[in-house]
Amino acid sequence: MWHMQPQIFQHGFVVLFFLLSLPGKGADGQTPGYTLSVQSLVSVTSGLCVEIPCKFTFDTRTLSTNVTGIWHKKMTQDIVAASTDASIVSERTKGRFRLTGKLHEGDCSFSISNVQKGDQGKYEFRFEDGGHKYSYRWNMLYVIVTNLRGPTISPVGKLIAGKQITLTCQSLPASQGCKGNITWEGTINIQTTSNSEIMDRSGKVTSNSVIRFTPSQRDHKSSLTCTVTYSGVSTYSSISLNVEYAPRSPSILNCTSAGCLVEVIDGTSLSLLCSAESHPPANLSWAKKSHNNIIPLNSSSGRLDVSHVTIDNGGDYMCQATNTHGNSTALIRVVIISLKHHTINLNGLMFGGIFILLLAAVALLALLAVKYKKNKRSPPEPVEESKSLSPNNYEVVYFNINRKTSDDEPYMDVSSPNECKIPDEDLQYVTLDISKLKPKRSPEPEDTLYSEVKRN
Ligand SMILES: *[C@@H]1O[C@H](CO)[C@@H](O)[C@H](O)[C@H]1NC(C)=O
Ligand SMILES: *[C@@H]1O[C@H](CO)[C@@H](O)[C@H](O)[C@H]1NC(C)=O
Ligand SMILES: *[C@@H]1O[C@H](CO)[C@@H](O)[C@H](O)[C@H]1NC(C)=O
Ligand SMILES: *[C@@H]1O[C@H](CO)[C@@H](O)[C@H](O)[C@H]1NC(C)=O
Ligand SMILES: *[C@@H]1O[C@H](CO)[C@@H](O)[C@H](O)[C@H]1NC(C)=O
Ligand SMILES: *[C@@H]1O[C@H](CO)[C@@H](O)[C@H](O)[C@H]1NC(C)=O
Repeated sequence: MWHMQPQIFQHGFVVLFFLLSLPGKGADGQTPGYTLSVQSLVSVTSGLCVEIPCKFTFDTRTLSTNVTGIWHKKMTQDIVAASTDASIVSERTKGRFRLTGKLHEGDCSFSISNVQKGDQGKYEFRFEDGGHKYSYRWNMLYVIVTNLRGPTISPVGKLIAGKQITLTCQSLPASQGCKGNITWEGTINIQTTSNSEIMDRSGKVTSNSVIRFTPSQRDHKSSLTCTVTYSGVSTYSSISLNVEYAPRSPSILNCTSAGCLVEVIDGTSLSLLCSAESHPPANLSWAKKSHNNIIPLNSSSGRLDVSHVTIDNGGDYMCQATNTHGNSTALIRVVIISLKHHTINLNGLMFGGIFILLLAAVALLALLAVKYKKNKRSPPEPVEESKSLSPNNYEVVYFNINRKTSDDEPYMDVSSPNECKIPDEDLQYVTLDISKLKPKRSPEPEDTLYSEVKRN
């Protein structure tokens, strides 16, 4: 008669266990009536413990309570467990291998605790009851020792700041005698912890610990460790928390401690740079506020470039950082400095001064020339009123360098206070006034040449 008992192991393969119980003495020498029923292969985890059920039969006779059961390792012939005389047991296994069943009732079950790598191998059972002895060499047990693994933490996916999450830590299945005890370590603020145990059909216990917490941005990249302590051995697994969060307020690199304002000279180029802390990285976009509208602008990687600014480019610009969890914006004011009437760039102020002096010299020469002519003429004619308006009669050179932003933005008025701190006004004002020519001889000996350079 064949007994077939399928065993499914961790490794996923099926080991067929055959229990041979043939009537009459078999060709292989097995004695009828003497059978051993034990798993042929047991996989145990290093450091843990295992209980191996085992039954044996003997012929019709009974066994005394004095019967000695002995398990020995096939390879070394070491006695690993003996039911009565502990002195015969190998030092390597003493105290760790233990016969647990009632031998005289045919129970050869035994346990191994704190399994060691060296415990791997084939084991054979025999009993001695006075003169009645038997070795079950046709049914050996093979013990495989696997490495102790850390517990499993799940899910290890992304966490989102502000959203409560549940994480589970699961121990390896272990015998009741060495089941795991789970503890957590980390900087997160664990709100609740609940521990439970699940026993599988083979009697192995898996411990679970479920924690609930709400991650915050500062928990990003912090580590969380789950430790399982079995009897005599402990193991752990750590994860680095991957906490996603909405962008924080973007920082515009052109802002200073004085405020978010840049001044750009009409005709030059403008570039603004923006960045934002966020996870996952934010998409950065620039837009310009105009009245109630927001006009999106072309930018790349947070950098806005305008190659040739005009007065119309003045105004408030907005950098928006967006990721899947939200968005955030920052503002900067752009003030266009316009040099009215003359295209002078700012080195140009000096150039302007030279220009004024040249004009003044020309005007002086013209004045002298006119004077000379008048001196020749006699009598002097009164100058007509209309003539006095003629540009030929006087020169006024007037430079007004002031700040200008687009006209449609009333808050851009430099004199009005606004939330963007505008640095102290330094309006530059250069005036050259060459007075109207006096057509007739004036009582004063000289004509007025008036030049004023005013800076305030
Ligand atoms: C069992 O052991 C006891 C004492 O150790 C002894 O008196 C008894 O005779 C033994 N029984 C058998 C069946 O050997
Ligand atoms: C598990 O560990 C904790 C902390 O070390 C301890 O308080 C608890 O009694 C242990 N539980 C078991 C079943 O060992
Ligand atoms: C803004 O900052 C960027 C980076 O520092 C710089 O390249 C750019 O010239 C600045 N723009 C202005 C208008 O100051
Ligand atoms: C923005 O960039 C796209 C592609 O580079 C281009 O077709 C479009 O004209 C640009 N828009 C502006 C306003 O510059
Ligand atoms: C960021 O930009 C990329 C490419 O333009 C786009 O595919 C993606 O959806 C954007 N992400 C968000 C959160 O807007
Ligand atoms: C930015 O976030 C607000 C809510 O905070 C949302 O109403 C708005 O649609 C978002 N804008 C973009 C462009 O994602």
